Amino acid sequence: MLYELSKLRILKFPIHRSIPFSSNALSPGTEIRPPFYVSKNLFSTTRQQQTVNRVLITGGLGQLGRGIASSLRSKLGDSNVFLSDIKDPDSETLKQGPFVRLDIIDKESIEKTVFENKIDGVIHLSAILSALGEKHPQKAIEVNIRGAENILDIAKNHNLRIFIPSSMGAFGPSTVKDSTPDLTIMRPNTLYGIAKVYMELMGEYYNQKNGLDFRSLRYPGIISGDTPPGGGTTDYAVDIFHAAIEKNQYTCFLKKDTYLAMMYVDDCISETIKFFLAPREQLSQCVYNVDAISFSPEELSNEIKKQWSPEFEISYKPDYRQKIADTWPRSMCDSKARSDWNFYPKLTSTSSLVSKMLSVIKRRNEYEK
Ligand SMILES: NC(=O)c1ccc[n+]([C@@H]2O[C@H](COP(=O)([O-])OP(=O)(O)OC[C@H]3O[C@@H](n4cnc5c(N)ncnc54)[C@H](O)[C@@H]3O)[C@@H](O)[C@H]2O)c1
Repeated sequence: MLYELSKLRILKFPIHRSIPFSSNALSPGTEIRPPFYVSKNLFSTTRQQQTVNRVLITGGLGQLGRGIASSLRSKLGDSNVFLSDIKDPDSETLKQGPFVRLDIIDKESIEKTVFENKIDGVIHLSAILSALGEKHPQKAIEVNIRGAENILDIAKNHNLRIFIPSSMGAFGPSTVKDSTPDLTIMRPNTLYGIAKVYMELMGEYYNQKNGLDFRSLRYPGIISGDTPPGGGTTDYAVDIFHAAIEKNQYTCFLKKDTYLAMMYVDDCISETIKFFLAPREQLSQCVYNVDAISFSPEELSNEIKKQWSPEFEISYKPDYRQKIADTWPRSMCDSKARSDWNFYPKLTSTSSLVSKMLSVIKRRNEYEK
């Protein structure tokens, strides 16, 4: 039986030929060997890479992946950043660099991609976000917990630098909500948050025990004008702009005074790349809080009224996402990220965020006409 190459679809930039996996002797007592690239320590796991040259991005077709890929490609070269997702890419994405169709549950295919393409760094973005995870708990466990286990194990076995975003959703109802510190009580009550805490602890464990170069940032809600959000609790802060421009009206799923920590996507991408490429000696911990702005739906809508139209109307119809938002920080303390590796978001006021979002969405709508 030959290993099925069709299971692994590499589009546009084909990888080298797959090595056939022969298991023809199936009589009792026969040892069946896995393909040689599976779960072997190919390098000393206590030695960390000083630089990264070839990076695999998982879950790369979501809100953040293409932006992170494009920024990283400008630094490492187009053909050195492999975007992957369980979904198929559009033709524009395919033109920009290599794409591999990968399911985060299919550990063998991921390991094969890593080995054959000499990958030395991973940015793991595959996830089921908070609100979606509460609707599809099994899926959230599978992707967010089993998926993280798979990728951490591969990173450990192949000595890869690995970045996995965590989230303010890793905190819970008993955590202090203002200026939440890096080290504090973490007892989240969503599957998303539980998976993030587990991922952070496993990454730190492998870092201490095996020398894995594990890095993670606890993102606040990320706001972007040209990529849609993927089912999180802060999605309102993107949807509201599209609704304002299209119909001058928005019904918000959070209460008007729900303050949450947020960041504009350009800051998220540039600071993530800075952190991912930073020399390890600059980092005194594996996981850092990062934050940029804090506002409520009411504050955001007042600013939209000022900058877009005084006729803009907002109404409030809180749903199950309100309960999630009530357990999350209103702001996070990120002083350690600022002092260790110079975290420095540029967009830090609600008015500059609104101005940026309106101009990006209007430009995009013009372009699509
Ligand atoms: N966007 C935010 O506001 C935000 C905030 C905090 C943390 N984060 C974290 O950042 C990371 C990326 O977030 P995002 O907003 O781009 O998410 P997203 O939901 O937009 O994208 C996730 C991607 O994962 C892919 N995926 C789902 N199941 C998969 C599977 N089985 N195998 C491979 N891929 C699969 C999806 O197809 C999707 O393209 C996640 O870890 C998320 O938890 C995001």
